[in-house]
Amino acid sequence: MTDNSVSLERIPQHVGIIMDGNGRWALARGQPRLAGHRAGVENLRRTITATVEFGIKYLTIYAFSTENWGRPPEEIRGLMFLLDEVLEKELDELHRQGVQLRHIGRLEGLAPHTQEMVREAIRMTRNNTRLVLNVAFNYGGRAEIVHAIRRMIADGVRPENVTEELVNQYLYTAGQPDPDLIIRTAGEIRVSNFLLWQAAYAEYYAANVYWPDFDKNEYRRALEHFASRERRFGLTSAQVQVQG
Ligand code: FPP
Repeated sequence: MTDNSVSLERIPQHVGIIMDGNGRWALARGQPRLAGHRAGVENLRRTITATVEFGIKYLTIYAFSTENWGRPPEEIRGLMFLLDEVLEKELDELHRQGVQLRHIGRLEGLAPHTQEMVREAIRMTRNNTRLVLNVAFNYGGRAEIVHAIRRMIADGVRPENVTEELVNQYLYTAGQPDPDLIIRTAGEIRVSNFLLWQAAYAEYYAANVYWPDFDKNEYRRALEHFASRERRFGLTSAQVQVQG
C-alpha cells in the first residue's frame, strides 16, 4: 500500500536515517540508556512500515558506527543483544512485508553467531523487492572508502581506470541509487561519518525529536521538506528549471 494521504510531489528513492537521541529519551524518563535503544528498535519497526507505505524503495539506517565501540561495554553488549533479538524476532515479519535486508559495514568484529544470522537474513530476503533495507552496523564512511581503495588495489585496478562509477561499485551500496535525503533526529546537524561518498548531493534534514519519538507525522514533515527543495547538482537554478 502506498500512502496517498500526503500529496508529496517528489518522494525520495533512497532515505538515510541517523537515529539519534535514544540515550536522552531514556534519561528524560529516568530510565537506563538501553531502554532508549529498546524504544528505538520499536520505532524502527514502525518506521520501516511507514517507509513501505510512503513508497520509498531504499532505506539505510545507522545502527552502530565504528566509533560506537568506544561506548561503555555494557551498552555495547546491549546493542549487540538487540541486533540478535531483532534478527530472531523480526525477520519473518520483515520478509512478509517484502523487505530485502542488506548489511553495510564490517561483519567481522561481530560475534560469529550474529554474523551467521545476518548472512542468513540476507540470503532469506534476497529476492524481496518492496524495500531494500541497509542496516549500517559496525559502519563508518571513511572505513568504507578505505576498504574500497584496498579492494581496488588488490584487484589490480590501474590508476587511469579509477572513476567515480568504479568507486561506486566497490562501496557497500554498489548497485543502489545514492541517498536523496538524510534525516537526523534529536536536532543534531552533523554527518557523523555516515554515507560520506554516497550523500554528496543528498538533502539533509534535522528533526527536533529524539529517535523513539520520530513518528509518521515527523517522517511526513521530513518528506515535505524534501519535496519543497530544489536540487541543483551544482547547476544554477535557471538551468535546473529549463531541464524541468
Ligand atoms: C543514537 O542514540 C543511537 C544509537 C547509537 C544506536 C541506534 C540503535 C538502535 C535504534 C537500536 C539498535 C538497532 C538495531 C538494528 C539492532 P544515542 O545513544 O547516541 O543517544 P544520545 O545522543 O541521546 O545519547
